[in-house]
Amino acid sequence: MKALVYQGPGKKALEDRPMPEVSAPTDAVVRITRTTICGTDLHILKGDVPTCEPGRILGHEGVGIVEKVGAGVSTFKPGDHVLISCISACGKCEYCRKGMYSHCTTGGWILGNRIDGTQAEYVRIPHADTSLYRIPEGADEEALVMLSDILPTGFECGVLNGKVQPGDTVAIVGAGPIGLAALLTAQFYSPAEIIMIDLDDNRLAVSKSFGATATVNSANGKAAEAVMKMTNGRGVDTAIEAVGVPATFVICEDIVAPGGTIANVGVHGVKVDLHLERLWSQNITITTRLVDTVTTPMLLKTVQSKKIDPKRLITHRFKLSNILDAYDTFGKAASTHALKVVIEA
Ligand SMILES: NC(=O)c1ccc[n+]([C@@H]2O[C@H](COP(=O)([O-])OP(=O)(O)OC[C@H]3O[C@@H](n4cnc5c(N)ncnc54)[C@H](O)[C@@H]3O)[C@@H](O)[C@H]2O)c1
Ligand SMILES: [Zn+2]
Ligand SMILES: [Zn+2]
Repeated sequence: MKALVYQGPGKKALEDRPMPEVSAPTDAVVRITRTTICGTDLHILKGDVPTCEPGRILGHEGVGIVEKVGAGVSTFKPGDHVLISCISACGKCEYCRKGMYSHCTTGGWILGNRIDGTQAEYVRIPHADTSLYRIPEGADEEALVMLSDILPTGFECGVLNGKVQPGDTVAIVGAGPIGLAALLTAQFYSPAEIIMIDLDDNRLAVSKSFGATATVNSANGKAAEAVMKMTNGRGVDTAIEAVGVPATFVICEDIVAPGGTIANVGVHGVKVDLHLERLWSQNITITTRLVDTVTTPMLLKTVQSKKIDPKRLITHRFKLSNILDAYDTFGKAASTHALKVVIEA
């Protein structure tokens, strides 16, 4: 089968690989119909993710059709259409029993990281009963690719941890796919204001069409001043960090209102200053989270009932044979205006 393989920092190739097999009774092998590329795949290609070794098939998102199941899989059978979660979960360990699937002792984020992933014709899914979701008949499967990772990430790490409430003022720093997913799902709770902050005017324009009430381009280094002015010096109830660099976390520290919450979503590679000399008295909360994908069944219902339309995040489509072009387009988002690229296998 064809598969996109990480060959070490800066190197990747479309290779011929053997078909994956059921190796544990709880495994399923899924024929991928659609997958996509995540910003995290670009981090891996830069060499930022040491757990992902050269030779690994990348990808942790996708939908497909069950090809084979192990003897211990009771929920799925060959032919079932399934959504693949970026997080694999045994459902039995201490963390899974708390709903903290991201820290499953034999799962978590392993797909396209510690084990071969979804940017291929077939993928082996461990703990299939608790890591796959049945796709309802007639669903738009392309839209559901957005539910493998970005929608639950924006919602769980940003909106739920950020405790967005009706009437709140929310700021989201970073208008990439994750920030936009937080923007879409924050609207479940009817906040009064959602301010999007980014360096990219195209992404800010997209944010407006997705429901942002105001946008700020932070290129001049004065985003915090702009937000404080917009909020009459009060700041925001929830500041969602969806970039993963020190400057954007510091913006969140500068704009959080007394009693507010900073919900970190970004993956940080270097240390960030925490200004407790100012914040100690502000009754704020800071949260961090690796997406658990516990809200995937709920999000599936909101997509099915058209409460949200994640298909709007898809800007480009490619065949698996052209996945290198897909990486090129996704990697040059500023000039290609790419958000999510769908790859058809
Ligand atoms: N916590 C989790 O479980 C989890 C899961 C998936 C992804 N993530 C992380 O979420 C973050 C966002 O992911 P994404 O795919 O949307 O990334 P992305 O790179 O596509 O988007 C980031 C956005 O931030 C903007 N940006 C960069 N520097 C900025 C700055 N100084 N000020 C304002 N905006 C700036 C960019 O223009 C871009 O639009 C990443 O760090 C990613 O690794 C976390
Ligand atoms: Zn991802
Ligand atoms: Zn577990």
